[in-house]
Formats: sequence, C-alpha cells, structure tokens
Amino acid sequence: KKRVLSMIQPTGTFTLGNYLGALKNFVRLQDDYECVYALADLHAITVRQEPAAFRKNILEAYALMLAIGIDLKRSVFFIQSQVAEHAQLAWVLNCYTQFGELSRMTQFKDKSQKHADNINAGLFTYPCLMAADILLYQADYVPIGADQKQHLELARNVAERFNGLYSPTFTVPDPIIAKHGARVMSLQDPTKKMSKSDENANGFITVLDDPDTIMRKFKRAVTDSEACVRFAEGKDGVNNLMGIYSSITGRSMEEIEREFDGKGYGDFKPAVAEAVIEELRPIQERYRNLIADKAYLEQCYRENAPKAQAIARRTLSKVMKKIGYLPL
Ligand code: TYM
Repeated sequence: KKRVLSMIQPTGTFTLGNYLGALKNFVRLQDDYECVYALADLHAITVRQEPAAFRKNILEAYALMLAIGIDLKRSVFFIQSQVAEHAQLAWVLNCYTQFGELSRMTQFKDKSQKHADNINAGLFTYPCLMAADILLYQADYVPIGADQKQHLELARNVAERFNGLYSPTFTVPDPIIAKHGARVMSLQDPTKKMSKSDENANGFITVLDDPDTIMRKFKRAVTDSEACVRFAEGKDGVNNLMGIYSSITGRSMEEIEREFDGKGYGDFKPAVAEAVIEELRPIQERYRNLIADKAYLEQCYRENAPKAQAIARRTLSKVMKKIGYLPL
C-alpha cells in the first residue's frame, strides 16, 4: 500500500477551510492508503503560544481529529513534539536547503509582514521542518490545501537533491489537492483565504461553531448585486459559496446552478449553511464525547508516538549513515 502523510497545526479549533481543504481528505484516504497523521505542534511555536492555552489546544485538536474521523485502527495519529526525529531530520535538511529557496516562500513573506515583531529563524526554516515531517515517513502522497503547495514543492526539491548527492534515500512525495475546497475564502473578503487569525470572526466558520452561528455567518457572507447563483469570473463571493456547497454535496457547479435557477441569494445562502451544519453535526457530537474522556485521549497519543517513531527512525538512521556520521 502507498503511504499518505499530513499534519495540521493545533492552534485553536479548525476552520471550514482546514476541513474542506485537508481534513475531509485525511478521512477519505484511509480507505485506500496507509495513513500517518500528526499535530504539528513544533510548527505552532513559530508564533508565540501561551503555555496553558497551547496545552489545551493540543489536546482539543487531538480529540477533534478523532471526531472528524481519523481511525486509529487503520491510521497512525501522533503529536509531532513527541517524536524527536522530526527536529533531528529538520536540522539536517536545513543544511541542504538554500537561503534563497526559503526566501521565496510566499507564506514566510506574508507571515513576516503580519508578525513583524517576531520574525524568528523558525518561521524562516519552517518548510525544512515540514519537509522532514513528510520525508521521514517516505510518504507517497500529502493531502494539503492550495496554500501549502509551495512548501510541498520545496520538500520534493530537497528530497531530490539529497537523493542525487548520495543515493535514493527519500520517496519524492506528490500533493493531493481537493478539486473544490482547496482554497476556501473568507466569507467577508472572498479575495483572502479563510483563516482563524482573521480579526473579523464573521469571515470564518469553525468546525465547532453552533448551527445558529453558522447560519448567521453565511447569511452575512459577502456576495454581489447580480443576485444570480452562477460560477463566473468576478463573482468571488458566490464562487466561494458554490465551492463550499459543491465540496460538501458532491454536486458540480452546473448542477448547483440548475438547483438554484431563478432563485436568489436569500435561498442559496441558507442552503449552503444547512449543508455545512448537517456535515458538522455528527462531528460536534463525537467531539463532545471524546473531549470528556481525557484518559482515553492520553492513551491514544501515548500509543501512537512510538508507532510513528519506529518508521521515522529507519529513515533517520539511513540519512545519518549516508552523510558519514558514526553510528553509536
Ligand atoms: P495549517 O495547520 O495551516 O492547515 C492545515 C491544512 O488546512 C489547509 N487549509 C486550507 N485549505 C483550504 N482553504 C483554506 N482556507 C485553508 N486553510 C488551511 C492547509 O493547506 C493544510 O493542508 N505547514 C502546515 C502543517 C504541516 C504539514 C506538515 C502539512 C506541518 N507539517 C507535513 C503536510 C505535511 C500548516 O501550517 O497547515
């Protein structure tokens, strides 16, 4: 079986963008692949975290991933900081990645503008840590949203470079990007991606938002004055809502246009909201049960870290040997 790897940062609840762009695929891919998933809590400290809130967010994110459908009978699901090989390989890859390559990363450019008071070295070398995450597990496929595509491309380049300098060591991974949902946009500014760091909470939906909140946010979503449900250039708001609706219902854009033919946004927006509410309802129910059982969650992550580590170690020791390090 081919292997899939992906991760998500545990910095608060997940958005509808995380869910449609990545998490929904994480669940589906378990049917056909050997899947390894993790919480990227090492990546999370590139932005300052308050310890008590951070600790709580990590546990909640672990529960939420299980609620979404990560199945521990079939997949490994661990916490990045509990497998030291990630930091170890990241250091090595830092030395095989050029300053210029990292300088071209658009996320670094965006984030260093947004967090101008804390442009730390970790923020800059973050793609090397992400490459380590992927390459340690010899992943064939990496499900991600469109915003992570450039980082995956860097991981491929570093893998190929290392393989070329020594001998085949790393599997060169391919991205899996959802057809609709790969780039869910803000409901308030559909030219910007949906993000939980948006200062306007009406711009994003979280996986744990209650039905009334979801309905209200969709009803307020920015559209246009044409009042026609049509997928077209210049209709960013409507295109975004159609993308969300398509991603949940599986209907094509043409089918959606037909469904709302002759109807306005007053019918369309609540229909999108309803679809999202129904999609999230069972997840929220499972989450409430899981988060109440801390002992079970603790047992899960404790069991999964060594499973991940067993795979990661094999790759890391190959890497160390090829470079010329003396084995212990
Ligand atoms: P993160 O935590 O920012 O986001 C997790 C996943 O959600 C996707 N995503 C979106 N998709 C569609 N529309 C949006 N508005 C949207 N916002 C976020 C992201 O593309 C991502 O797939 N660096 C990664 C975490 C990571 C990782 C890895 C991923 C660390 N190591 C190894 C893959 C493989 C990140 O910060 O994602």
